[in-house]
Amino acid sequence: MKTPLGFAPALPLSALEVGQGRSCRVGEHRLALFRTADGVHALDDRCPHRGSSLGGGHFDGHCVTCPSHGWRFDVRTGRAVSAIGNATGCYEVRIIDGMVCVRVESIGGMLRSAWARWRSAWRRER
Ligand code: FES
Repeated sequence: MKTPLGFAPALPLSALEVGQGRSCRVGEHRLALFRTADGVHALDDRCPHRGSSLGGGHFDGHCVTCPSHGWRFDVRTGRAVSAIGNATGCYEVRIIDGMVCVRVESIGGMLRSAWARWRSAWRRER
């Protein structure tokens, strides 16, 4: 499967039913995926309050409730709807060949990674 630049496969779409959320790992990223009637949404699996996993929180409509202290987040934006002004990371999702793929790397991150790879290859050759 070929994914667009910056996207990485997370899990098969069939592993996530509408109305369900779950945690997963993509590379070094811990993500919480939520499937709604209009698609799949990806957030950092870390509540900005005290770091609890959001993937196992109660999920209803477009909101997930943190299981620890009840902060609620809109899974489409990552913004808190109960503790206004707070947010967790929100990632672009695409379904490719039946896989949920998440853009976990920013353009800046990709450029830094490419630069680091090029620099270490250049040093090895010297
Ligand atoms: S850790 Fe999520 S609300 Fe406290």
